[in-house]
Amino acid sequence: MPPYWSLGFQLCQYGYKNLTNLQAAVNRTREYNIPQDVQYADIDHMDERKDFTVDPVNFAGLQDYFTHLQDNGMHIIIILDPALITNNTNYEPYDLGLQEDLYIKWPNESVIPDTDKPDISGTRNMHGWVWPSGKAVFPDFFLNRTADFWRNLTVKHVKTLTFDGLWIDMNEPANFGTNLEKIWNWPEGLSSYWSLKCPENNYDDPPYRTKAAYTYDSESREARLSDNTLCMIAEQEDGQQLHYNVHSLYGWSQTEPTLNALRAAVPGKRGMVISRSTYPGSGRHAGHWLGDNDSRWPHLHESIIGMLEFNLFGIPYIGADICGFWGETTAEMCKRWMQLGAFYPFSRNHNGIDNTPQDPGYFGEEVAVPSREALLIRYRLLPYLYTLFHIAHTRGNTVIRPLMHEFPTDNRTWGIDRQFLWGPAFMIVPVLEEGATSLTFYLPKARWYDYHTGAMVTDNEAKDMSLPIKPDSPIHLYVRGGFVIPGQEPDLNTVASRQRPFSLLVALDDQDKAKGELFWDDGDSVDTYENGSYYFAKFKANQVQVEMEIQHNNDMMSNLIMGSITVLGVRERPLAAYVNGKLHFLDYDSENRVLKIDGLAPYLKMNESFIVEWSATPKATEEEKERLDCFPESA
Ligand code: GLC
Repeated sequence: MPPYWSLGFQLCQYGYKNLTNLQAAVNRTREYNIPQDVQYADIDHMDERKDFTVDPVNFAGLQDYFTHLQDNGMHIIIILDPALITNNTNYEPYDLGLQEDLYIKWPNESVIPDTDKPDISGTRNMHGWVWPSGKAVFPDFFLNRTADFWRNLTVKHVKTLTFDGLWIDMNEPANFGTNLEKIWNWPEGLSSYWSLKCPENNYDDPPYRTKAAYTYDSESREARLSDNTLCMIAEQEDGQQLHYNVHSLYGWSQTEPTLNALRAAVPGKRGMVISRSTYPGSGRHAGHWLGDNDSRWPHLHESIIGMLEFNLFGIPYIGADICGFWGETTAEMCKRWMQLGAFYPFSRNHNGIDNTPQDPGYFGEEVAVPSREALLIRYRLLPYLYTLFHIAHTRGNTVIRPLMHEFPTDNRTWGIDRQFLWGPAFMIVPVLEEGATSLTFYLPKARWYDYHTGAMVTDNEAKDMSLPIKPDSPIHLYVRGGFVIPGQEPDLNTVASRQRPFSLLVALDDQDKAKGELFWDDGDSVDTYENGSYYFAKFKANQVQVEMEIQHNNDMMSNLIMGSITVLGVRERPLAAYVNGKLHFLDYDSENRVLKIDGLAPYLKMNESFIVEWSATPKATEEEKERLDCFPESA
């Protein structure tokens, strides 16, 4: 179950290069009142890209700044790479791992190439090369002692730099330049090249070539299975495993120890881990981002496919780098991507090194305004999204799903991957092309309402849609009849939004019915559902009323209130509303048939079940009628 804050908007760049640039990105986001919950620090915040260090020059003051952000309701996630550099004197992480003898090894002395003869006598550690300038070793997470080692380092590090989440990267495991003469990031001026070279053997050069090997084929050479990673003959788990057999589990094996390390470092907090390499089962301990995409239009579309797939893999906390990682984005692309990314479960704008900034405030109003609008909708709907995560957590459902999972017998839905659903009830239809002037999409047989106007678009009939698109068109969103979507007034981060009044969006179906549910807890501590420290309410509605029935109450709800109820598909203008039997004003948009009952805050507490009714025939007492006259909105 992800913490509530991790459903907020997140900002990152590889290559802020210094604290000033990182702060500038946060400030621009704030200047445009764009919600933000999480700020990242990528490897450039480290001292020479070494795990568990902070660059004392370019990122001096980082800790104070993080504390300042955290004091203002933000959360911090930092990156960790598995590979640890070896050639620094007094690099404690390396030395500790050496003492514990927990690095991935060559299987025996005879296969160690001369170029990788142990620099410390007696070790068979396999050396590679990743971000820091020096040979690196890879902790073997199949060993319990590695989990202890990783936890100790994390617990120690949080005293230097406070973080709330961990981002584990390069854990395929990635290694630069395996089997090549020159590693791409070899230090300039250092002429004697070195790289990890795997001797020929049946595992690195199987008798058949796998697809994984073809990936790195070039004109000059046929790739080997070990290219860009460790040698397949490496040994893990004190000789019990061959790397060839467990290669694809490296990220998986790192994930649970990392969550445990984080929870030890930040006791009592749920925390969040995202991992680049995952495997079925990883979703129990972490989320995932779709890796290094490009700032190119097709990657908006492909990100939807990736999200749908990862929900099937049981990893519903998923998203792509918004506005793209490699290469330069454009304002238009970034605008459309922010609108789409506002509906990724994991919503992070992340940029690659040496690119122009692409945080939503950087481009000025053109991107900032639509980003804010889309994110405010996301923040309004977070109680629904959080409830979907609760259902995924307890029952294994998907959070994001393709239309075909809700409409399996409609074969028109089977190939749709340019639209997607949040749970059963909410459809997202993004613009995915440059210069788009129209948007064509499909509404399967159900009642659908336009989220922006509340108007009914189709009533239980499938419909092909084609809409004009202007540069300032918002993202298209549809609500499915039959569902009640819980929401909450948005704010600039979730610590603030979680205090605000709740709301209900009731979308009646063609039987005049709707239902929904809300899961709530402190959003931050561990196993609230398992410990019973949560809140659960059910909603049901028809043409004349909405009812909230609390199934599992909790004291924390006593300060929270229901502020407004919007009902879509109310056929006739009601004369008056009754809140738990007491007369209340209402507002009715007869064109779109939208009933709005707000100003509920003084009357409806979230810790008390309630009924709100409306009717064409007021049953008010004379005294109540007089009170009602005070409200111009009343019929
Ligand atoms: C990898 C990651 C990317 C990160 C970079 C630097 O390319 O996929 O997200 O920014 O490494 O750490």
